Amino acid sequence: MIVTDVSRFQAVLLNLVLNARDAMAKKGSISIEVRRLAADGQDWVEISVSDDGVGMDKETLSRAFDPFFTTKAPGRGNGLGLSQVRTFVEYNKGEFEIDSAPNKGTTIWLRLPAAS
Ligand SMILES: Nc1ncnc2c1ncn2[C@@H]1O[C@H](COP(=O)(O)OP(=O)(O)O)[C@@H](O)[C@H]1O
Ligand SMILES: [Mg+2]
Repeated sequence: MIVTDVSRFQAVLLNLVLNARDAMAKKGSISIEVRRLAADGQDWVEISVSDDGVGMDKETLSRAFDPFFTTKAPGRGNGLGLSQVRTFVEYNKGEFEIDSAPNKGTTIWLRLPAAS
């Protein structure tokens, strides 16, 4: 369990899943995993979203979390999805991590403090 704003959390999860969908041409798989872990003297809930889509090159990856950065066609993306993810994680005193490579896919992990 985590203590957070549920509607913001839903928006974050939806953003990540929509990005995963957009990274796939026609088919592929998206995994959402949740686990509990202990690190740095506290309990965390880790949520990860993975896809096996196109992935990102280093240039895209370095800017992916910037507000208004998008590689999508006009009207298809506003570049605010990942910046909202970052804001959400920071506001909730959590951490995030990303791993992505061209043609390999993308995984994003969110770690949020577990409720006591
Ligand atoms: N799962 C993903 N696979 C490949 N590229 C991604 C993925 N998620 C995000 N990106 C890249 O990061 C950019 C920014 O993502 P985001 O902030 O959600 O904005 P938007 O989806 O509106 O473009 C995307 O345009 C895309 O280039
Ligand atoms: Mg997006």
